[in-house]
Amino acid sequence: MSATAKKTAPLPDDIKSMKGTTPIVSLTAYTTPMARMMDGVCDFALVGDSVGMVLHGMPSTLGVTMEMMILHGQAVARGLTTTMLVIDMPFGSYEESPKQAFANAARIMRETGAAAVKLEGGRHMAETIAFLVARGVPVMAHIGLTPQSINTLGGYKVQGRADQADALLADARAVADAGAFSVVLEKVPATLADRITAEISIPTIGIGASVGCDGQILVVDDMLGLFTAFKPKFVKRYATLGADGEAAIRAYADEVRARSFPAAEHTFSDKAPGQ
Ligand code: KIV
Repeated sequence: MSATAKKTAPLPDDIKSMKGTTPIVSLTAYTTPMARMMDGVCDFALVGDSVGMVLHGMPSTLGVTMEMMILHGQAVARGLTTTMLVIDMPFGSYEESPKQAFANAARIMRETGAAAVKLEGGRHMAETIAFLVARGVPVMAHIGLTPQSINTLGGYKVQGRADQADALLADARAVADAGAFSVVLEKVPATLADRITAEISIPTIGIGASVGCDGQILVVDDMLGLFTAFKPKFVKRYATLGADGEAAIRAYADEVRARSFPAAEHTFSDKAPGQ
């Protein structure tokens, strides 16, 4: 590469080629400032439908709409230059038919500039994944705990234990064979995640899976300590921004009530402009 060559964001194939060589780093992102913080640090940023719970206070991801994903996708796109953008397909936007999935995936990519979409499901989504990939839509699959199916899974339980393991392995093989460029493994026992990682040709991205996955993802508000409604076991908090923010808001309120804010340095004189 020449000294003046401009670095660009990786493409789905670049992420795929990292399997077994370089750990893939990713986080969710929902806003421009958060995207700027991870730009060039993460390999990809995912506008997850977790946005509904994390930013909009929804009880699950089921109420998230195409419009929400596109709005947040556009915001994140404005903050990324050298990190790839992936956007979740929301519940109800792809399950009905491959044609429905293509129309909505194409809309997401057209209106946000995303490089790829993510959708939940294993063997039963393989036909749709193949349909999308054949038409120019790179797909990241998502198996294990698939939050859009909590009502049929019976809650946010670990998936793939004991006699479920072979089914999950079959799901992983099916999405890889269908042409997905990577697959998220959520809340899967570590031994099974390791087995899947060893047996399929595409990168596994773990969340509550195994350190042996080809990459990791976390919800950014969880790892920054901004989302404190609950903390799944697989979350490590790298900062305490929620507690810091609450303390800052209390300090501000105290100072306003004590009439100590704004101080002289925050107010303007009537002399020179700008002073
Ligand atoms: O919606 C989301 O944030 C996700 C990640 C947890 C992988 O799907």
